[in-house]
Amino acid sequence: MEETKKFLLSQEISAPEIGIILGTGLGKLIDHIQIEKTIPYEKIPHFPLSTVESHSGNLVYGTLEGKKVMVMQGRFHLYEGYSFQEITYPVRVMKSLGVNTLLLSNAAGALNTDFKKAEIMLLDDHINLQGGSPLIGKNHDELGPRFPDMAEPYTLELNKKMKRIAQEKGIQLHEGVYVAVAGPQLETRAEYRFLHRIGADAVGMSTAPEATVAVHAGMQCCAVSVLTDECDPDHLEKVNIADILAAAAQAEPNMIELFKGLVKEI
Ligand code: HPA
Repeated sequence: MEETKKFLLSQEISAPEIGIILGTGLGKLIDHIQIEKTIPYEKIPHFPLSTVESHSGNLVYGTLEGKKVMVMQGRFHLYEGYSFQEITYPVRVMKSLGVNTLLLSNAAGALNTDFKKAEIMLLDDHINLQGGSPLIGKNHDELGPRFPDMAEPYTLELNKKMKRIAQEKGIQLHEGVYVAVAGPQLETRAEYRFLHRIGADAVGMSTAPEATVAVHAGMQCCAVSVLTDECDPDHLEKVNIADILAAAAQAEPNMIELFKGLVKEI
Protein backbone atom coordinates (compact mmCIF):
# COMPACT_ATOMS: atom_id res chain seq x y z
CA MET A 1 0.00 0.00 0.00
CA GLU A 2 2.78 2.40 0.93
CA GLU A 3 4.58 1.66 -2.35
CA THR A 4 1.43 2.06 -4.43
CA LYS A 5 0.57 5.29 -2.66
CA LYS A 6 4.10 6.64 -3.05
CA PHE A 7 4.02 5.92 -6.78
CA LEU A 8 0.63 7.60 -7.27
CA LEU A 9 1.70 10.64 -5.28
CA SER A 10 4.81 10.84 -7.49
CA GLN A 11 2.40 10.95 -10.46
CA GLU A 12 0.71 13.95 -8.86
CA ILE A 13 -2.44 12.07 -7.94
CA SER A 14 -2.94 14.11 -4.85
CA ALA A 15 -6.06 14.78 -2.82
CA PRO A 16 -8.77 12.97 -4.82
CA GLU A 17 -12.14 13.46 -3.09
CA ILE A 18 -14.29 10.92 -4.87
CA GLY A 19 -13.49 7.45 -6.19
CA ILE A 20 -15.47 6.04 -9.10
CA ILE A 21 -15.42 2.47 -10.39
CA LEU A 22 -16.88 2.18 -13.87
CA GLY A 23 -18.54 -1.08 -14.86
CA THR A 24 -19.45 -2.68 -18.18
CA GLY A 25 -20.21 -0.25 -21.00
CA LEU A 26 -20.19 2.85 -18.81
CA GLY A 27 -16.80 4.08 -19.84
CA LYS A 28 -18.06 7.26 -21.48
CA LEU A 29 -18.24 9.13 -18.17
CA ILE A 30 -14.53 9.52 -18.86
CA ASP A 31 -15.35 11.96 -21.69
CA HIS A 32 -16.85 14.35 -19.13
CA ILE A 33 -13.73 14.50 -16.96
CA GLN A 34 -11.01 17.10 -17.37
CA ILE A 35 -8.27 14.50 -17.26
CA GLU A 36 -4.95 15.30 -15.66
CA LYS A 37 -3.48 11.82 -15.66
CA THR A 38 -4.19 8.41 -17.17
CA ILE A 39 -2.14 5.56 -15.77
CA PRO A 40 -2.46 2.01 -17.14
CA TYR A 41 -2.87 -0.48 -14.30
CA GLU A 42 0.25 -2.35 -15.34
CA LYS A 43 2.35 0.71 -14.51
CA ILE A 44 1.05 0.86 -10.94
CA PRO A 45 3.03 -1.16 -8.39
CA HIS A 46 1.00 -4.03 -6.87
CA PHE A 47 -2.11 -3.40 -8.99
CA PRO A 48 -3.74 -6.47 -10.54
CA LEU A 49 -4.18 -6.42 -14.34
CA SER A 50 -7.57 -6.30 -16.04
CA THR A 51 -8.24 -9.13 -18.52
CA VAL A 52 -11.83 -8.70 -19.72
CA GLU A 53 -12.01 -7.31 -23.23
CA SER A 54 -14.92 -4.97 -22.60
CA HIS A 55 -12.99 -3.25 -19.81
CA SER A 56 -9.91 -1.13 -20.31
CA GLY A 57 -7.57 -0.93 -17.41
CA ASN A 58 -6.64 2.62 -16.48
CA LEU A 59 -6.61 4.75 -13.42
CA VAL A 60 -7.82 8.19 -14.46
CA TYR A 61 -7.37 11.29 -12.35
CA GLY A 62 -8.99 14.62 -13.02
CA THR A 63 -11.88 16.98 -12.34
CA LEU A 64 -15.58 16.19 -12.73
CA GLU A 65 -18.17 18.84 -11.89
CA GLY A 66 -15.50 20.76 -9.99
CA LYS A 67 -14.44 17.77 -7.85
CA LYS A 68 -11.17 15.87 -7.93
CA VAL A 69 -12.00 12.30 -8.93
CA MET A 70 -9.98 9.12 -9.14
CA VAL A 71 -11.61 6.76 -11.60
CA MET A 72 -11.05 3.07 -12.18
CA GLN A 73 -11.68 2.61 -15.88
CA GLY A 74 -12.25 -1.13 -15.71
CA ARG A 75 -12.59 -3.18 -12.58
CA PHE A 76 -11.32 -6.57 -11.47
CA HIS A 77 -13.65 -9.55 -11.12
CA LEU A 78 -13.48 -12.77 -9.15
CA TYR A 79 -14.16 -14.77 -12.32
CA GLU A 80 -10.90 -13.52 -13.81
CA GLY A 81 -9.14 -15.50 -11.12
CA TYR A 82 -8.26 -12.70 -8.72
CA SER A 83 -8.74 -12.99 -5.00
CA PHE A 84 -11.20 -10.86 -3.05
CA GLN A 85 -8.23 -8.91 -1.69
CA GLU A 86 -6.91 -8.19 -5.19
CA ILE A 87 -10.22 -6.96 -6.61
CA THR A 88 -10.72 -4.57 -3.71
CA TYR A 89 -7.14 -3.32 -3.50
CA PRO A 90 -7.89 -0.16 -5.54
CA VAL A 91 -10.58 0.87 -3.01
CA ARG A 92 -8.04 0.66 -0.20
CA VAL A 93 -5.58 2.67 -2.27
CA MET A 94 -8.26 5.30 -2.92
CA LYS A 95 -8.93 5.56 0.80
CA SER A 96 -5.22 5.91 1.58
CA LEU A 97 -5.07 8.88 -0.82
CA GLY A 98 -7.94 10.60 0.96
CA VAL A 99 -11.01 9.44 -0.97
CA ASN A 100 -14.05 9.40 1.32
CA THR A 101 -16.80 8.63 -1.17
CA LEU A 102 -16.95 5.63 -3.51
CA LEU A 103 -19.34 5.54 -6.47
CA LEU A 104 -19.85 2.24 -8.24
CA SER A 105 -21.56 1.17 -11.42
CA ASN A 106 -22.23 -2.25 -12.82
CA ALA A 107 -24.25 -4.24 -15.33
CA ALA A 108 -26.78 -6.60 -13.80
CA GLY A 109 -29.60 -8.89 -14.78
CA ALA A 110 -33.12 -7.90 -13.69
CA LEU A 111 -34.77 -10.46 -11.40
CA ASN A 112 -37.66 -8.19 -10.47
CA THR A 113 -40.12 -8.60 -13.36
CA ASP A 114 -41.23 -4.97 -13.01
CA PHE A 115 -37.73 -3.90 -14.06
CA LYS A 116 -36.89 -3.88 -17.77
CA LYS A 117 -33.80 -4.09 -19.92
CA ALA A 118 -31.81 -0.83 -20.19
CA GLU A 119 -33.45 0.59 -17.07
CA ILE A 120 -31.40 1.62 -14.05
CA MET A 121 -31.47 0.48 -10.43
CA LEU A 122 -30.02 2.21 -7.39
CA LEU A 123 -28.67 -0.27 -4.83
CA ASP A 124 -30.48 -0.04 -1.54
CA ASP A 125 -28.74 -3.14 -0.23
CA HIS A 126 -26.92 -6.28 -1.36
CA ILE A 127 -26.69 -10.01 -0.75
CA ASN A 128 -23.21 -11.49 -1.01
CA LEU A 129 -23.38 -14.98 -2.55
CA GLN A 130 -19.83 -14.94 -3.86
CA GLY A 131 -18.68 -17.44 -1.29
CA GLY A 132 -16.18 -15.25 0.51
CA SER A 133 -15.29 -11.79 1.71
CA PRO A 134 -12.42 -9.36 1.10
CA LEU A 135 -12.20 -8.99 4.89
CA ILE A 136 -11.26 -12.60 5.59
CA GLY A 137 -7.82 -12.94 7.16
CA LYS A 138 -5.92 -10.84 9.62
CA ASN A 139 -7.70 -7.55 10.25
CA HIS A 140 -5.55 -4.47 9.96
CA ASP A 141 -7.13 -2.23 12.56
CA GLU A 142 -5.72 0.89 10.91
CA LEU A 143 -7.84 0.07 7.82
CA GLY A 144 -11.08 -0.65 9.67
CA PRO A 145 -12.77 -2.74 12.38
CA ARG A 146 -12.76 -6.55 12.62
CA PHE A 147 -16.55 -6.82 12.44
CA PRO A 148 -17.84 -3.90 10.38
CA ASP A 149 -21.54 -3.14 10.64
CA MET A 150 -23.41 -3.66 7.36
CA ALA A 151 -26.77 -2.12 8.24
CA GLU A 152 -26.23 0.65 5.70
CA PRO A 153 -23.80 -0.52 3.00
CA TYR A 154 -25.07 2.15 0.59
CA THR A 155 -25.18 5.57 2.21
CA LEU A 156 -28.79 6.67 2.70
CA GLU A 157 -27.94 10.32 2.27
CA LEU A 158 -26.33 9.70 -1.13
CA ASN A 159 -29.23 7.50 -2.22
CA LYS A 160 -31.69 10.23 -1.29
CA LYS A 161 -29.70 12.70 -3.39
CA MET A 162 -29.52 10.25 -6.29
CA LYS A 163 -33.30 9.75 -6.24
CA ARG A 164 -33.93 13.48 -6.19
CA ILE A 165 -31.47 14.05 -9.04
CA ALA A 166 -33.18 11.32 -11.09
CA GLN A 167 -36.54 12.94 -10.46
CA GLU A 168 -35.29 16.40 -11.40
CA LYS A 169 -33.78 15.10 -14.62
CA GLY A 170 -36.78 12.94 -15.47
CA ILE A 171 -34.74 9.72 -15.36
CA GLN A 172 -36.50 6.55 -14.27
CA LEU A 173 -34.57 5.07 -11.34
CA HIS A 174 -35.60 1.84 -9.63
CA GLU A 175 -34.31 0.98 -6.20
CA GLY A 176 -33.61 -2.53 -5.00
CA VAL A 177 -31.39 -5.30 -3.72
CA TYR A 178 -28.39 -6.52 -5.72
CA VAL A 179 -27.17 -10.06 -5.31
CA ALA A 180 -23.51 -10.68 -6.10
CA VAL A 181 -22.52 -14.07 -7.52
CA ALA A 182 -19.09 -15.28 -8.59
CA GLY A 183 -19.89 -16.05 -12.26
CA PRO A 184 -18.70 -16.11 -14.98
CA GLN A 185 -21.57 -18.28 -16.20
CA LEU A 186 -24.97 -16.65 -16.15
CA GLU A 187 -27.53 -18.28 -13.90
CA THR A 188 -29.72 -21.30 -14.50
CA ARG A 189 -33.50 -20.85 -14.40
CA ALA A 190 -33.55 -22.48 -10.97
CA GLU A 191 -30.89 -20.06 -9.76
CA TYR A 192 -32.81 -17.02 -11.03
CA ARG A 193 -35.94 -18.28 -9.27
CA PHE A 194 -33.96 -18.78 -6.06
CA LEU A 195 -32.23 -15.39 -6.22
CA HIS A 196 -35.52 -13.58 -6.71
CA ARG A 197 -37.18 -15.52 -3.88
CA ILE A 198 -34.48 -14.68 -1.39
CA GLY A 199 -35.12 -10.99 -1.96
CA ALA A 200 -32.90 -9.80 -4.79
CA ASP A 201 -34.05 -7.49 -7.58
CA ALA A 202 -30.91 -7.71 -9.71
CA VAL A 203 -27.96 -10.08 -10.07
CA GLY A 204 -24.39 -9.34 -11.06
CA MET A 205 -20.80 -10.41 -10.58
CA SER A 206 -19.21 -7.42 -8.88
CA THR A 207 -19.75 -4.43 -6.56
CA ALA A 208 -20.46 -6.20 -3.24
CA PRO A 209 -16.72 -6.72 -2.47
CA GLU A 210 -15.82 -3.11 -3.25
CA ALA A 211 -18.77 -1.82 -1.22
CA THR A 212 -17.79 -4.07 1.68
CA VAL A 213 -14.25 -2.70 1.73
CA ALA A 214 -15.61 0.85 1.46
CA VAL A 215 -17.84 0.25 4.49
CA HIS A 216 -14.93 -1.33 6.36
CA ALA A 217 -12.84 1.76 5.61
CA GLY A 218 -15.60 4.11 6.78
CA MET A 219 -16.23 5.52 3.30
CA GLN A 220 -19.59 6.68 1.96
CA CYS A 221 -20.80 4.48 -0.87
CA CYS A 222 -23.38 4.65 -3.65
CA ALA A 223 -23.92 2.11 -6.44
CA VAL A 224 -26.08 1.93 -9.54
CA SER A 225 -26.84 -1.03 -11.83
CA VAL A 226 -27.69 -0.89 -15.50
CA LEU A 227 -30.13 -3.71 -16.08
CA THR A 228 -28.89 -5.39 -19.22
CA ASP A 229 -31.19 -8.40 -19.45
CA GLU A 230 -34.39 -9.75 -17.95
CA CYS A 231 -33.97 -12.86 -15.82
CA ASP A 232 -37.49 -14.21 -15.61
CA PRO A 233 -37.08 -17.98 -15.26
CA ASP A 234 -40.45 -18.66 -16.89
CA HIS A 235 -39.67 -16.59 -19.98
CA LEU A 236 -35.93 -16.78 -20.21
CA GLU A 237 -34.26 -15.73 -23.43
CA LYS A 238 -30.68 -16.56 -24.24
CA VAL A 239 -28.38 -13.57 -23.89
CA ASN A 240 -24.98 -12.90 -25.30
CA ILE A 241 -22.36 -10.38 -24.31
CA ALA A 242 -23.13 -8.16 -27.33
CA ASP A 243 -26.78 -7.80 -26.18
CA ILE A 244 -25.60 -6.94 -22.67
CA LEU A 245 -23.20 -4.28 -23.95
CA ALA A 246 -25.90 -2.83 -26.23
CA ALA A 247 -28.35 -2.48 -23.32
CA ALA A 248 -25.64 -0.89 -21.16
CA ALA A 249 -24.86 1.57 -23.96
CA GLN A 250 -28.55 2.49 -24.23
CA ALA A 251 -28.66 3.43 -20.54
CA GLU A 252 -25.29 5.16 -20.58
CA PRO A 253 -26.42 8.78 -21.15
CA ASN A 254 -28.78 8.56 -18.14
CA MET A 255 -26.09 6.93 -16.01
CA ILE A 256 -23.71 9.75 -16.87
CA GLU A 257 -26.31 12.37 -15.93
CA LEU A 258 -26.93 10.66 -12.57
CA PHE A 259 -23.24 10.34 -11.72
CA LYS A 260 -22.45 13.92 -12.72
CA GLY A 261 -25.42 15.17 -10.72
CA LEU A 262 -24.33 13.31 -7.62
CA VAL A 263 -20.65 14.29 -7.88
CA LYS A 264 -21.70 17.92 -8.09
CA GLU A 265 -23.56 17.63 -4.80
CA ILE A 266 -20.97 15.72 -2.77
N1 HPA B 1 -26.39 -12.54 -14.29
C1 HPA B 1 -27.38 -12.45 -15.19
N2 HPA B 1 -27.50 -11.47 -16.04
C2 HPA B 1 -26.58 -10.51 -16.01
C3 HPA B 1 -25.55 -10.54 -15.11
C4 HPA B 1 -25.44 -11.63 -14.20
O1 HPA B 1 -24.52 -11.72 -13.38
N3 HPA B 1 -24.80 -9.43 -15.33
C5 HPA B 1 -25.39 -8.76 -16.33
N4 HPA B 1 -26.48 -9.40 -16.72
